[in-house]
Amino acid sequence: MSLPDPIGRALPHESARAHVQGSARYTADLPDLAGTLHAAPVCAPHARARLVALDVSAALAHPGVATVLTAADVPGVNDSSAHGGDEPLFADPEVLYWGHAVAWVLAESEAAARAGAALVRATCEPLPALLSIEAAIAAGSFHGPEQRLRWGDPEAALARAPHRLEGELFVGAQDHFYLETHTAYALLEPDHTLHVYSSTQHPSETQGVVAQVLGVPANRVTVTCLRMGGGFGGKESQGAPYAAVAALGALKTGRPVRVRLRRSDDMVMTGKRHPFWGRYEVGFHPDGTLGAVVLELFSDGGFSSDLSLPVMGRALFHADNAYYAPHRLVRGRVCKTHKTSQTAFRGFGGPQGMLFAEEIIDRVARSLGLPPDAVRARNLYCAAGARATTHYGQLILDSHLERVWHEVLSRADVARRRAELAAFNAAHPHCKRALAVTPVKFGISFTKTPMNQAGALVLIYLDGSVQLNHGGTEMGQGLLTKTLQVAAATLGVPLERLRVMPTATDKVPNTSPTAASSGSDLNGQAVKAACETLKGRLAGVAAKLLGLSAPEVLRFEGGEIFCPYQPQRRLLFTDVVRQAYLEQVPLFATGYYRTPNLHFDPATGRGRPFHYFACGAAASEVEVDGFTGAFKLRRVDIVQDVGAPLNPLIDRGQIEGGFVQGLGWLTMEEALWDAAGRFVTNAPSTYKIPTIADVPEAFHVAFLPDAATPGVIGGSKAVGEPPLMLALSVREALREAVAAFTEAPPRRVELAAPATPEAILWAIERVRAEPVRDLVSGD
Ligand code: MTE
Ligand code: HPA
Repeated sequence: MSLPDPIGRALPHESARAHVQGSARYTADLPDLAGTLHAAPVCAPHARARLVALDVSAALAHPGVATVLTAADVPGVNDSSAHGGDEPLFADPEVLYWGHAVAWVLAESEAAARAGAALVRATCEPLPALLSIEAAIAAGSFHGPEQRLRWGDPEAALARAPHRLEGELFVGAQDHFYLETHTAYALLEPDHTLHVYSSTQHPSETQGVVAQVLGVPANRVTVTCLRMGGGFGGKESQGAPYAAVAALGALKTGRPVRVRLRRSDDMVMTGKRHPFWGRYEVGFHPDGTLGAVVLELFSDGGFSSDLSLPVMGRALFHADNAYYAPHRLVRGRVCKTHKTSQTAFRGFGGPQGMLFAEEIIDRVARSLGLPPDAVRARNLYCAAGARATTHYGQLILDSHLERVWHEVLSRADVARRRAELAAFNAAHPHCKRALAVTPVKFGISFTKTPMNQAGALVLIYLDGSVQLNHGGTEMGQGLLTKTLQVAAATLGVPLERLRVMPTATDKVPNTSPTAASSGSDLNGQAVKAACETLKGRLAGVAAKLLGLSAPEVLRFEGGEIFCPYQPQRRLLFTDVVRQAYLEQVPLFATGYYRTPNLHFDPATGRGRPFHYFACGAAASEVEVDGFTGAFKLRRVDIVQDVGAPLNPLIDRGQIEGGFVQGLGWLTMEEALWDAAGRFVTNAPSTYKIPTIADVPEAFHVAFLPDAATPGVIGGSKAVGEPPLMLALSVREALREAVAAFTEAPPRRVELAAPATPEAILWAIERVRAEPVRDLVSGD
């Protein structure tokens, strides 16, 4: 497929220069307007409590403090949730998690606001709190109903399976650790409407929440997102309360109000990737192929439902990862606890579901004494036939799963390196190297079908320059660069003529969040649609000027409009724009896109929830120190299907960044709450995220060649989330290395998630102490 320039070009991120120069403007960089007040939260030091009294007098007396916001100030609804009605903005009458704000102090400076906040006296009566998945299950405390997907007859198939085993696994939370913490800046306009600048992936929802809290119609609130210093899902829903506090403060005082969370406040107050606990039973054949899988998942949703139900939904959709089973039952419940409200995080439950799939495959392989990679390969979905259907009935067509798998095996030279690793291990009793290859199949589309829509507004000015507006937000992932490329290619004008505007609810209404990796799929199509409309109008004008009867044949390229059959007959884009104005042809247009043919019925668990699958595979090699459990990631090879990449440079960055973020989740980032429910790993000193030193020296990223995909923008596939799950290969390589510390291959390697050095050391101890024979029956 040949694509119009500059689609497919490896252009730098449109703000790359500004990022490194420090001139890219983020919400917190907006200069303080005269009279700006700064906000600091008063966080309750209880996981659950009844607020008995609130005394703000000492805070009000503190120099610089202007006012203290409490629930009594809310003119609308004291709730910052978009749907659930279960997120009190101010903890009144009940504190629902450690860090829940009972009040916000507004002052002339951030320091004065913090000092004032320390003087607020909240009298609380502690109440019993639920602080773990186990405690919530025991108490029957859940958000929403059980969700389930069922395929075939799993119980009967389990009963007749030649081999069976069962197990359980817990995986911890992950903090987003975006560089820019949550922030908002609210201005009360002279007409008493509000303009809120918010670091949010979801300006429209933020607008709705602000309007709900203030008790005003949505048209009186404008939300603008300039750009985010990272979102990773953490700003899909959770920016809204801070926008609401800023807006409420502006309304109450008439002065601009800024909220900017300190890192430790951000970590204590905001939701994380959901911890999951699950138990499974699997029936399988002597060659390691799956017969039946029954999996029950529980996530810790925290105090409010937020996005936890769809996160669990996506976990269930991805509990197969890339593996076919003729019979499968997956069930999921979201536990309601007194912790931060866990939320979207790159992968949105998919990573947790897929972790269980890999756990199961590894258990099956080792229990049979088969190489795990071979068992993975044997169970991969096929592109056609009976083994091409998921447990919700969607066909895995054109997903290139087998292609990425074979491509990575050959690029990573897996067969030869395995022999080398065996020789190394034979010579090194206290240090082992191992390699594992894992696949990823990730469904692209919001699982809530109506969310798969987007809008754009494109304006052409008389000098031929173009302004682009759409509902997508920029968080570093390169969406704006890609939509600029789409507009430039469609209108045939150089990129320099285009400008993309900050995302604002007064330009495009009712937008979906920039999430589910679908930002460029959806907004790219909407931008293209708007540009096509304008192009059609301009072609009509140009055809008249050129004396042609068929405007549809005209080509738009390089700032010119011409007839391909008589290329000498050409006009400048700008001249045609001016003529269009004179002929009273409108020079602005909206564009709209909805993803076609999506449907899913939760009642039957059948449908086609995803437009397509984005597949990839990774081969990771690790070296583990038997004395400390420390490991080094020596080499990673990735093959990712990005279709025909819209921008190979950006896509490569997404793959590398996503993989390293997954590496952090699976091996380093240990998020801990103490017995009182306080989030204790609330700083980089106690919460370790990957650094450049953790990136493998040999990091080979390849795009699957010849993979242009019909029916998507520029033939490209989404790339934002899928690579995160390629880091599962590191976990499996670690397990393989742990297994190498014993003479006879262990029949089971238990490895905690995250696999920190401590966890790895324990795993080594366990396999050394007692190689467990694993089969429940039939061995
Ligand atoms: N890349 C950067 N640099 N920063 C981010 O916050 N978020 C990820 C991914 N890549 C993120 C990122 C997540 S969670 C998603 S869903 C996608 O980008 C969203 O953008 P897209 O849909 O335009 O790919
Ligand atoms: N729905 C909503 N948000 C998301 C999803 C989804 O399916 N995936 C990632 N973010």
